[in-house]
Amino acid sequence: MTASDAARRAAADRAWAELRPQLAAEAQAALGEEVDAFLARAELALFDVHEPLAVLYDEPDALMATAFRIVLAAAADRPAALRRLDRRREIDPGWFQRSRMQGYVCYVDHFCGTLDRLPEHLDYLAELGTTYLHLMPLLRPREGENDGGYAVADYRAVDPRLGTMADLERVAGALHERDMSLCIDLVLNHTAREHPWAQAWLAGDPAYAGFYSAFPDRQVPDAYDATIPEVFPDRAPGSFSWVPEACGGAGGWVWTTFWPYQWDLDYTNPAVTLAMLGEIVWLANRGVDVFRMDAVPFMGKRLGTTCQNQPEVHTLLQLLHALTRVAAPGVVFKAEAIVAPDDLVPYLGGHERYRPECELAYHNSLMVLLWSSLATQDARLARHALGRMRPIPPTTTWVTYVRGHDDIGWAVTDEDAAAIGVGGHSHRRFLNDFFAGHYPASSARGALFQENALTGDARISGSAASLCGIEDALERGDDAALEAGIRRLVLLYSVAFAWGGIPLLYMGDEIALLNDDRYLADPSRAPDNRWMHRPVMDWAAAQRRTDPTTLEGRVFGRIRQLGEVRRSQLALHGGAESTVFDAGSDAVLAWRRRSARSGTFVGLANFSATPQVVDADTVTGFGAFAPVLTSDGPPEVAGGRLVVPGLGFAWLAEP
Ligand code: GLC
Repeated sequence: MTASDAARRAAADRAWAELRPQLAAEAQAALGEEVDAFLARAELALFDVHEPLAVLYDEPDALMATAFRIVLAAAADRPAALRRLDRRREIDPGWFQRSRMQGYVCYVDHFCGTLDRLPEHLDYLAELGTTYLHLMPLLRPREGENDGGYAVADYRAVDPRLGTMADLERVAGALHERDMSLCIDLVLNHTAREHPWAQAWLAGDPAYAGFYSAFPDRQVPDAYDATIPEVFPDRAPGSFSWVPEACGGAGGWVWTTFWPYQWDLDYTNPAVTLAMLGEIVWLANRGVDVFRMDAVPFMGKRLGTTCQNQPEVHTLLQLLHALTRVAAPGVVFKAEAIVAPDDLVPYLGGHERYRPECELAYHNSLMVLLWSSLATQDARLARHALGRMRPIPPTTTWVTYVRGHDDIGWAVTDEDAAAIGVGGHSHRRFLNDFFAGHYPASSARGALFQENALTGDARISGSAASLCGIEDALERGDDAALEAGIRRLVLLYSVAFAWGGIPLLYMGDEIALLNDDRYLADPSRAPDNRWMHRPVMDWAAAQRRTDPTTLEGRVFGRIRQLGEVRRSQLALHGGAESTVFDAGSDAVLAWRRRSARSGTFVGLANFSATPQVVDADTVTGFGAFAPVLTSDGPPEVAGGRLVVPGLGFAWLAEP
């Protein structure tokens, strides 16, 4: 411990000694026999609460007293069924790391219409092996344009078009009965400008003073904008929006990182942090197991920086995390930090020393590198970039995915590109051209998103199936191309399912749903082409999933099998680290996993269309290894060499 660590601990201990008698009495009255467990959790979290408060704000002792009272009230309100779940998870804190964990992500309206219809579809989800359901934004958004629900007007109400909070609680209960967990989005960087906090701030209500920030002229905004990359350059350039009612009616530039109707909360104000804590624990008590912490890199602002991944962001997440788990120890956080590889691991608490932060984080790098490897038919960039990522804390794990509701931004660093002899900018440009289908050799049917004429940057929209060439093959009636498209899709998922961590299946990918252009008819969606890969579930197509002669049957069967085999593999427990290695072919991504409780697992994914030979010595020496799942039946092994078919994969494990 450094001297300042010791001093901070002493300060935390002093504050606790002062608070404890009174808090214990209140907890006794509110919780009865659960008082000891609550106080034990609070004491365990003490340093993770007090230190961040001391780093971020003045008067940490008083803030800690208020914060503990918020979580005490939430603990007292926590329904009995959720307390039982908490107890199980306190005994089994790595519950989210098990290889039985498998996710499914969907929009409620696009999947089943309304929340009350969702339980009817749990058999379908169970058939796939789902144990974790992420329902896309469902809290009450503003009217009109709302960024797909990411402009929240009320954290304590469900979007009336989807149902009610009581419906959501029933969904959580139905999931828990089947040992499935519920994930929802928590948008904490900003609220809708219609949110009561924003309206009260605008009206000058002193209780909400400093909840948001506004500047009377362009001086400060220009200074910040000089170094902040734009998220939506085409329709929302800059990070500030002019609001005539701001600054006491004189007008001002309000901080709006995303769309002008999404107002950034000002977390330098402790009242904001405590207000958000109140919303989190309230939602936790409705039965939410996992919070997807939306757009967290943007929560801290520093002049002269990109205003992403600033130290305050991590301190804030650590604080909210520690406090939430005093009230609801079964709840975990998932970071949505779509950032460069070096910036990603800290969201899992991987700092100079471990600091509990989020248990889960999207493995954005893996996702991007999978698509990049597919385009180049070459896994060297993936091998290099993944190989130099820092290990993650063993109590956390990744969320691995192929496709989500957002565009794909090519988070490939110039350094990583240079290491394999390509230019970063030109490679990113190639990927955009490739997936937008601008090359004759590409069968991908994506579209450019947020093309920036100034910088030449862009990102890609499009459904996984369409990006894999399935749409193109169907249109041309080309059976061989269709099979290749299916193989690409399954190949990508074979890595996501065996990398370690929770694999997410994005709704529709299991039956190869294509780009959906119906969004163009809705003026509030038409300008945002991310809607092309947010299709409506085609239940008639899903009916065909049991017929192996159909497209749906061919994809569904293989994806389902990935989950089935995954569950049997101890080495796919999320606590173990994946190590990439060179298996002797540039086209093959090879990785190895070993946990304290298991033998070694090896995954091989061939991104080229032609068979690749990998060397047994570099892999493991196949003698002791058995294929547990392969794309094309028993692999050909000859003379210490194993053949991975074109666009094929192999999972091998020590028996
Ligand atoms: C996240 C969401 C994205 C949204 C943004 C702003 O990145 O995934 O869809 O636009 O946050 O809330």
